[in-house]
Formats: sequence, C-alpha cells, structure tokens
Amino acid sequence: MTKIRVNENVTKAPPQPQPPANKVNPTFKINLAFNESPYPPSPKALEAYNETGKILNRYPNYSSSDLRLVLGKKYGLDDTRIMCTAGSEQILSFIARAFISDGDEVIYPRYGFMVYRFNIAMAGGIAVPIEHDDYVINVDNILNAVTDKTRVVFLDNPGNPTGTYVPYDEIKRLCENLPDHILLVLDAAYAEFATEDDYDAGLDLVDKHQNVIVTRTLSKLYGLSGLRIGWAYSTEEIIHNLQYLKGGFNVSKPAQTAGCAAVLDQEYADEMRNKCRAGIDYLTQELRAMGLNVTSSVCNFVMLHFPDGRDQMKAADAYLKENDICVGPLGAYGLDSTLRVTVGTDEENNIFIATMKSFMEK
Ligand SMILES: Cc1ncc(COP(=O)(O)O)c(C=O)c1O
Repeated sequence: MTKIRVNENVTKAPPQPQPPANKVNPTFKINLAFNESPYPPSPKALEAYNETGKILNRYPNYSSSDLRLVLGKKYGLDDTRIMCTAGSEQILSFIARAFISDGDEVIYPRYGFMVYRFNIAMAGGIAVPIEHDDYVINVDNILNAVTDKTRVVFLDNPGNPTGTYVPYDEIKRLCENLPDHILLVLDAAYAEFATEDDYDAGLDLVDKHQNVIVTRTLSKLYGLSGLRIGWAYSTEEIIHNLQYLKGGFNVSKPAQTAGCAAVLDQEYADEMRNKCRAGIDYLTQELRAMGLNVTSSVCNFVMLHFPDGRDQMKAADAYLKENDICVGPLGAYGLDSTLRVTVGTDEENNIFIATMKSFMEK
C-alpha cells in the first residue's frame, strides 16, 4: 500500500468514467454519443494542421497569441483578456481550482455538464444543484439558491445534455442580481449552433460586470474535438489569476494553427451549422412521429425520452448497439429513461431513424 498521502478532496470526488485500457473507445460504426461534429474540420484547418508537421521540433507559441488575436478580431474582444486552453474542460478545471476553496458552495444546473460536479468536488466545494423547469434553467432558482457561502455559479448555456437555452434577457437579469463577489461562469460550448434571436453567449457581459467569465470551444461546430482547443474571456484580473494555473505551451502547435484557420473559415462554419440544424429538425420530427418525447434543442444533439420508462430506454440502447450505433444514456444525471443523441451525417441520421423505427415496431 502506498504511503503517499492523497488530497482528501480527490478521494471523495465522484469517480470519473475511466474504462480499462482494453475497453477505451469501443468502436461503433455510427457514434452519436459525444456531441462531436460528424464531419471533418474545414479543409483550410486541415491544410494548416498538416503544415505544422514540419516544425513540431519547436514548442508552440507560449500563450496562443495568434489564436487569441484571431478570436479577438472575430468577436470584437480585447485579446489580452482571452486565454486559450487544451479544450474548454481545461479552463473549467482551472476555474474550479482558482476560485473554489474547501466548504464553498457552488451552484450548477442539475442537468448541466457533468464535469462541473467533478471539478467542484475536487476543489473541496459543496455542489448545489438547481432544478430546471421542463429541462430549461430557471434563473430565479439560481438566485434563490445563493447563500453567504456561494462563491461560483456554473451555467452551461445552451445546456448539455438538455439542448435548451436561457434567453439573454434572463442571463442579464441574473448578472444584475447576482452578488458581485460570486463568479458567474457562462459555459457557451454550443453557442455557435444557437441562432435564436433571443440567445447570446454573453461576451458583452464581461465588460459590464466584474464577475463574469465566458468559456468557448472549437470542439463542436468547428469539428476540432480531437485537437483540444478551448478559450475563455473575462476581466484582466480573473484571466491573470487563471494564468498561474495555465503554465506555458498548454495548447499544441497544430491545435493553434488549425484553430486559427477554422475560426477564419466562416463559410464552412455556416455550412456545418445549417447541416446541424437540418439534422436536429429531422431527428426531432421523426422521433416525435414514433410517439417518443423529444426536448426541443438548439445544439447538435437531442434528448430523447421513452414514455415507457427505464426498461424501454435500456432495450432501445441495447438494440441500437446491436446495430452498431452508439448513443448516450443519461442515467448518470438521474434521467433513467432518456438517451442523448448527437446529430450525425444525413446517412447516419437515416440509419439511426430506421433502426429506431424497427425497435418501436418490435
Ligand atoms: C457544456 C459543455 N461544456 C464544455 C465542454 C467541453 O468541451 P471541450 O473540452 O472539448 O472544449 C463540453 C463537452 O462536451 C460541454 O458539453
């Protein structure tokens, strides 16, 4: 038995899913489980990526300054207050380590991104889940959960796994009413998909309030999950504190280079967004026509609820797997009769729908 002392927060944290090495990433012909893009990234990003092969003997830019400049220009932001990370998961963990101490209360949506729970526990915080109204986050529930111990609020908007969003007016109301010593983390991983007029990722709020950080990713619309590129925008002070945790060279050279090219290729991003929305509409319509409940989604996935409960969901999941299709059961969120299904290519969506039809007819 090792004599090395492990930080108690780590041993008490809920275990992160880590299948044995021989079971990692079982390969299904159609993978609709991880909210990834089903398409390769922009050809311009691939070209930039391939070019960096020749200079991999060199470290990447220390602080991703080119990528920060590109992002700053695209969104009209002060690039000195952007921080790039290896996926936005990395910045979420930095936020927890930097701003949560033992015993601090941290508010998060019960059906919010699973990683918040791990990070809160690891930092010694007390996780305070707030309830949704029909899978939509209610800002009053957040405000009512605030106590004198609250230090951070994590809010994924749009949400994973719900696919729903909180309108911008409500987010503004939250900012105005949240005490300013509480950090509001607006996790906008799926912002690029949400074209609704009353949605906004909230980057403007960073300049109006001193306690807001917005996190973004190139994993979703830009199809760069495999490269790991995330970024955050906040005040000078918050970014300065997070930089202690970042260290240097945290985003690889191919990631920085391909990331710049992907962000600049607006035409390809628009094409991906349109395909995704068409896929969402198709899946939603077809699944509802089968008598299944589907929560309306503005993201690249939908939640599919089985009216006959857990056993029906389990049977559907097993049937899909037998047919080489992998989707995401949401038991870990306490949603025992729900599957999360990522939009695939047109062909994958058709196969998925045909398989679901044959399951329902069984
Ligand atoms: C809501 C939300 N935030 C953040 C992330 C992290 O994404 P990444 O680390 O790939 O940037 C995800 C990934 O699925 C997510 O669903």
